[in-house]
Amino acid sequence: MKRRGAGTISAGEVGDRVRLQAWVRRRRDLGGLIFLQLRDYSGVVQVVVRPDEHPAVAASLDAVRLEWVVDVEGVVERRSPENINPEMATGEIEVILDRAQILSRSAPLPFAVEGEVDATEETRLRYRFLDLRRSELQANLRLRHKVTLEVLEHFDERGFVNVETPILTRSTPEGARDYLVPSRVRHGSFYALPQSPQLFKQILMVSGLDRYVQIARCFRDEDLRADRQPEFTQVDVEMSFPTEDEIFELIESLFARIFPLAGIEPELPFPRITFEEAIRRFGTDRPDLRFGMEIGDLTELLSESEFRAFRQTVADGGVVRGISVAGAAKSSRRQIDEWAQVARDHGAAGVLTVKKTDGELQFQVKGVLTQEELSGVAARLEIADGDLGLLVAGPSPVASAALGAVRLQAAHQLDLVPADRQAFVWVTEFPLFEWQEESQRWYACHHPFTSPDPRDLDRLETDPGSVRARAYDVVMNGLELGGGSIRIHDPDLQQRAFTALGIGAEEARERFGFLLDALRYGAPPHGGLALGLDRIVMVMAGASSIRDVIAFPKTTSATCLMTEAPSTVDEAQLSELGIALTDVETPNDSGEEPREPQS
Ligand code: AMO
Repeated sequence: MKRRGAGTISAGEVGDRVRLQAWVRRRRDLGGLIFLQLRDYSGVVQVVVRPDEHPAVAASLDAVRLEWVVDVEGVVERRSPENINPEMATGEIEVILDRAQILSRSAPLPFAVEGEVDATEETRLRYRFLDLRRSELQANLRLRHKVTLEVLEHFDERGFVNVETPILTRSTPEGARDYLVPSRVRHGSFYALPQSPQLFKQILMVSGLDRYVQIARCFRDEDLRADRQPEFTQVDVEMSFPTEDEIFELIESLFARIFPLAGIEPELPFPRITFEEAIRRFGTDRPDLRFGMEIGDLTELLSESEFRAFRQTVADGGVVRGISVAGAAKSSRRQIDEWAQVARDHGAAGVLTVKKTDGELQFQVKGVLTQEELSGVAARLEIADGDLGLLVAGPSPVASAALGAVRLQAAHQLDLVPADRQAFVWVTEFPLFEWQEESQRWYACHHPFTSPDPRDLDRLETDPGSVRARAYDVVMNGLELGGGSIRIHDPDLQQRAFTALGIGAEEARERFGFLLDALRYGAPPHGGLALGLDRIVMVMAGASSIRDVIAFPKTTSATCLMTEAPSTVDEAQLSELGIALTDVETPNDSGEEPREPQS
């Protein structure tokens, strides 16, 4: 008899015979009867053993415990009305068993596989094979599968070709460290695992492929967070002769296709905001537009203020800016201190408050602001009765970053983020370069292959910091889902960009000779972007970490607790690779907890 999915048996089959091969998720013995809930890929069904009718079945299932695997057969019966379980898809029926066999036993479980999570992240990752039995994780992997299929279908319909690019390759700079793989045949040489297929996809455009897509695995040795893993997956896209509008439309229509799989209907087209505006209004290049609380500039208003901290900051070329937190006028000292700490974590001196209660405005330091200044602040920040203004004085980037962070923290703490709203936005016109104080040089904000905005090209050498890039990010609810750019397709301009980054002609030839060569043989204008597939599925699944949508994720210290990778290798393997170790850390003396759960 053929196996049926436990969750697929319906009330229409009462009286039919069915066979199940499944896991025992619950066991209850009641007045001589044994009730089991069986679970498989499709769901759950209750089966019943009646020892008086089928003593042999009862005997064979007597020892059965949670997560054992059984093969059973029986007849579908309707449950008596008082036993119907409306919470369960199969809650109207149960299967009365007349045959049973145990296929596999389970050792005592390290944690409950069903219901509330009662184990640490560490234990769950170590026993990932058990944790993956959870219906939430199963649903996430199935959702990921569906999204992947839709993505490929979407691009296929538009003439994109799925091409696999190498995993063993040369380093492509995307800002993180590379994972290196030693060569056995050329001792001292290393492959790098790709941080992204960036250069290969550009070369495919030079090769005339016209439109490329790949579900691409990428590897970056960087500090990890809830939305970052050392290996992750991109939906990687490139096209020839594109305009930004075409790329935006391509992605918007993709999102309009995949997000409904999770009940989210994106509104098209997505609004666009320049980098400069995003920083000015929201203090971040990935603004969460589900709520207002925009940053208001008070610099001019307070430049002559009697309050010295304001006056002096402005005289020193700094700014005074603020936000209004709705309904927060009565916040405790502790709460305000917490926000001040967030501001300090972003380099600010702290926050100063203006509150409005019973129609009256009050600055934290009494008597230093005029009534006119106070009402100016309230008008600019839209401080209504019962609201609290939070002000930061300091250098412009610091004030923006601090207020951007406080804005998020306060909105989340005070439930000011509408849970049912989704806010997609394109952030455009990123700066091409950013100055790094430690190394005293310019870095590419996106990557060195991004095209400068032609309007700013004449300043590439003289004022690199002011040059805008033809780069864009797609952001949802404050999370960067993807980013890309129109690329440089002119080898001379590419060399100018390298030079601005301190990469001379010789070094450029050594590191990127193949790209510069390719650009010399009729390279079409081209551009594209890459979406973080893990992040997209994470928001769709309503998960709080990308670990929950990756079958076998790593911890914050980039280890796999299940396989215990990375691991040492034996001497013979190393010597074959021509490698001698000088600085060996065993997992236990590394100073780092090897099985540290992710935060
Ligand atoms: P970028 O570096 O912006 O661009 O990456 C694109 C998207 O990939 C996702 N992402 C990550 N997801 C999980 N873990 C990580 N460690 C991680 N790093 C990045 C993010 C991000 O928006 N080659 C360019 C794209 C291009 O120019 O076409 C690139 O890789 O969602």
